[in-house]
Amino acid sequence: MTAATKRLFIKTYGCQMNVYDSERMKDVLAPLGYTSIDTADDADLVLLNTCHIREKATEKVFSELGQLKRLKQASGGKMLLGVTGCVAQAEGEEIMRRQPAVDLVLGPQAYHKLPELIARVHRAANERLETDFEVEEKFDALPSDRQVDGPSAFLSVQEGCDKFCSFCVVPYTRGAEFSRSVDAIVAEARALIRKGVREINLLGQNVNAYHGTAPSLEGGDDWTLAQLIRHLAKIDGLDRIRFTTSHPRDMDDDLIAAFGDTEKLMPYLHLPVQAGSDSILKAMNRGHTAQHYVDIIERLRVVRPDMAVTSDFIVGFPGERDEDFEDTMRIVETIDYAAAYSFKYSRRPGTPAADMFAQVPEEVKDERLQRLQALIRDQQTRFNQSQIGKTLPVLVTGTGRNDGQMAGRTPYLQATHFDGTEDLIGQIVDVTMTNATLNSVGGQLARSSEPAL
Ligand code: 5AD
Ligand code: SF4
Repeated sequence: MTAATKRLFIKTYGCQMNVYDSERMKDVLAPLGYTSIDTADDADLVLLNTCHIREKATEKVFSELGQLKRLKQASGGKMLLGVTGCVAQAEGEEIMRRQPAVDLVLGPQAYHKLPELIARVHRAANERLETDFEVEEKFDALPSDRQVDGPSAFLSVQEGCDKFCSFCVVPYTRGAEFSRSVDAIVAEARALIRKGVREINLLGQNVNAYHGTAPSLEGGDDWTLAQLIRHLAKIDGLDRIRFTTSHPRDMDDDLIAAFGDTEKLMPYLHLPVQAGSDSILKAMNRGHTAQHYVDIIERLRVVRPDMAVTSDFIVGFPGERDEDFEDTMRIVETIDYAAAYSFKYSRRPGTPAADMFAQVPEEVKDERLQRLQALIRDQQTRFNQSQIGKTLPVLVTGTGRNDGQMAGRTPYLQATHFDGTEDLIGQIVDVTMTNATLNSVGGQLARSSEPAL
């Protein structure tokens, strides 16, 4: 993606520290396409990096802002105006109140938030941000193994993210949260079901922040994800509902309750926690503690004791000490995951974490990742083994690897194989589990829960 070039003018007052900070701000803004210029005249963004040390500093800033306001008007309002530095710190509210032309105010401790603030200003004006971020599939794309044929399908209900986790590019590249209307989703779900789909996986970068327009017949406020799920559950022919990916902050009571009272909602939840240490979670800007996450899972298991939980983890986030990593190991032990993805932290220029000082050495990240993955593999294997002897309803999705073998998914999303015939594809059949590995469970057809036609 090539960003349109934007012009940045920073006027620096005061001490060497401010000069240094101005340079850092330029670096932080470069990935958003900003190049530095020497005059405010044609700038797209003007920052006054202020100093409080001399008397009347505030008044000077206001008189400067008065002139800049005229430039902003001449630009048709396009020019963004920001005040940073010590005056911003001391008089932030006063500045916003007295000079409405100012778009952002930022104290010296918060420069890493510049990209977020600028993204928010653009969003408020409904403008899309073009950035220079390299978009890596792994982090940014919706799952690529979209199954358009077969009995299981993805249905996109929400896009974008407003969370601004400090390591993540998505809020910049994908833009603000947007939810599709319930009517549009129901229409798409019905079309999928007509094509033979029986399981729908509701997709969104932040799917449980869903807040879509209520059905035209019902009117009223936007609906939550739980309301949407309960509504979809009434559609005949739709047997299984899943959703991904969720954020702990948006796990509301009703959504938790839905796992207990909505039979079609499968007992499986991908709920990334990223780390188990509160100080790392804070630096990640996740907005919740480890205990809050553990409480959510406990409440889910009260309403649905067999709940399978999965997560994403990042090891080696800047500043992660040994004891922080041990907290991550501990939360994994506490939750006992059915599966999890884990990544080494990778710097994404332009995100706040990329500029944090205490980057963790690569070999430390490697070591931590190996330990974490060994623990997760162990839990995943045990979870699969715990199904041996049980008879589970399996949605048959296709043929298996070996001749005469069929493949499907348990309610817990485990890949399953068993001997059977192709006419079972699209059916939900009972399979008694006889063996398990790290990545799958295997069994024998108990009895077809729906006799083949
Ligand atoms: N470094 C490492 N992992 C990342 N993720 C997102 N951004 C980064 C990054 N900069 C991981 C998170 C997220 C998953 C989709 O990718 O764990 O949940
Ligand atoms: Fe990225 Fe997910 Fe955080 Fe949004 S909630 S910023 S998509 S990691």
